[in-house]
Amino acid sequence: MQVIHHIAALRAALAGQRDIVFVPTMGGLHEGHVSLVTAAVNTGGPVVASVFVNRLQFAPAEDFSRYPRSLDRDIDLLAAAGCDFLFAPSEQELYPEPQVFKVQPPSELANILEGSTRPDFFTGVCTVVLKLLSIVMPSKAVFGKKDYQQLLIIRAMVRQLALPIEIIAADTVRDQHGLALSSRNSYLSDAERLQGAQLHRLLQEIAASVRAGEMDWREIEAHAIAALVGLGFKPDYVAIRRRSDLMAATVGEPLVVLAAATLGSTRLIDNLEI
Ligand code: PAF
Repeated sequence: MQVIHHIAALRAALAGQRDIVFVPTMGGLHEGHVSLVTAAVNTGGPVVASVFVNRLQFAPAEDFSRYPRSLDRDIDLLAAAGCDFLFAPSEQELYPEPQVFKVQPPSELANILEGSTRPDFFTGVCTVVLKLLSIVMPSKAVFGKKDYQQLLIIRAMVRQLALPIEIIAADTVRDQHGLALSSRNSYLSDAERLQGAQLHRLLQEIAASVRAGEMDWREIEAHAIAALVGLGFKPDYVAIRRRSDLMAATVGEPLVVLAAATLGSTRLIDNLEI
């Protein structure tokens, strides 16, 4: 695997490559990221991953400075997974001047759920993803379903801007207790990891109730919020939505249940397609 830090060097290395598959990450890699790279490798094209902790998607009080940075380990994991090129730019390389041109996703998609407490989050995500896509120029890009709203917004951006890129969605990888893998899990103690897995269990219960024909979804959500408080979480939301645009759903539409809750000082998100 070639590790490249500069845009010009990456462009030179990728010149003439066809069917490039891209896996953007913020590093702090784990088995979930490895599964994204495996999905990319399985397409048969040359695989480019990126590691860049994107300041634009962190609110001032968020964990930008303590976000896990483990480039040497990331390099080993990516190389072992079959990645061909790693792009790991510095901030100076990606944002040599303040990034004043930004991609602003529509508020009905970006200011709900994850965006309701983090108003600039998806603008930061879309801006860096578009910039990375225009540097790498892949045919395909892989995103995890763990960040369900992000996946939906990226798909919408690619469609609306007519980018010739196929977005591949990869399933969430969980630990043996069901906790969705996340770089931020490194902040959790062992006890918190076990406790965190309860979030997934709750989503499974909700999915089972909805599948069993329970119709009062607002009541299910309220009950789940109370259950999370009882389990020691500080819940942000539990929401049963339609998959296509994360709006309120009606019976018969494909659904997803999404949740966010803080455990100790760590904010966890998870979701389950119903
Ligand atoms: O999902 C992530 O890790 C980030 O939001 C992404 C897509 C790499 C953009 O910084």
